[in-house]
Amino acid sequence: MSRPDPPLYYRAHVFCCVNTRAPDHPRGCCSARDSVRLRAHMKARAKQRGLTDVRINASQCLDRCEFGPTMVIYPEGVWYAPRTVADVDEIVETHLVNGGRVERLMLMPDQPLPDQGAEAAAAS
Ligand code: FES
Repeated sequence: MSRPDPPLYYRAHVFCCVNTRAPDHPRGCCSARDSVRLRAHMKARAKQRGLTDVRINASQCLDRCEFGPTMVIYPEGVWYAPRTVADVDEIVETHLVNGGRVERLMLMPDQPLPDQGAEAAAAS
């Protein structure tokens, strides 16, 4: 029988993609969509809010590039695609401080790629 998992080291762990690709890469990249600034803002905001049990990490590609900038929060495994510092502030306050969800910014596992969504809408 294996030992139970140890307690969480961080209450929440945020991975923010800051990956950079060549400008002509077909999938694009999060850094071209301001992810470096948004991640820095999130880190500063979390510190400002006193979230010492939350870690805001820069990550390389999370493989959801088309939705970028992307981030994922563990242990919940909730994905977000914030566009602005106001979006980031809302994620910090609603998700990390209060344990809620910012549904309008969440990425779903079965979410169609942005271009696929446009094609499906055009076809209907
Ligand atoms: S470049 Fe950010 S998810 Fe791939």
